[in-house]
Amino acid sequence: MALLTILEFPDERLRTVAKPIAEFDAALQTRIDDMFETMYAAPGIGLAATQVDDHRQLIVMDVSENKDQPLVVINPKIVEREGVQTYQEGCLSVPGIFADVDRADHIVVECLDRHGQPQRIAASGLLAVCIQHEMDHLAGKVFVDYLSPLKRQMVQRKLDKRRRQAA
Ligand code: NI
Repeated sequence: MALLTILEFPDERLRTVAKPIAEFDAALQTRIDDMFETMYAAPGIGLAATQVDDHRQLIVMDVSENKDQPLVVINPKIVEREGVQTYQEGCLSVPGIFADVDRADHIVVECLDRHGQPQRIAASGLLAVCIQHEMDHLAGKVFVDYLSPLKRQMVQRKLDKRRRQAA
């Protein structure tokens, strides 16, 4: 397995719209395993292929406390949404930044698993937030897009400062 490089906001490659997956070959299985390793190491609870510069509709997640419930979501479509919840989100592509975002409280997603088998996921709470956040990545969106221009400027300044300190 291998750790993958995570693209960071405002990298333009994060704006790429992902394409559906049709082939469930060995290379895809390796990519999924590498994405899990990268996500757990970060550490994070979700990672979209977009964030590792792979522009296919692929998401890995694990919102469990013991990090023992890996979930692979491929070619997802939200078929039901209900209610609103506000959650303080973060993102491995926007390190150190957290902000409130409104999302649907409950969703039903139709997608494929890592072997191409159809699955239907009913999600609430954190899992629902995570799926919607990661599906945004596949559409070329980042959670800071939901912030006001002023707040987004503050985020950009904070990230610039972090990068100067790290350099
Ligand atoms: Ni993210």
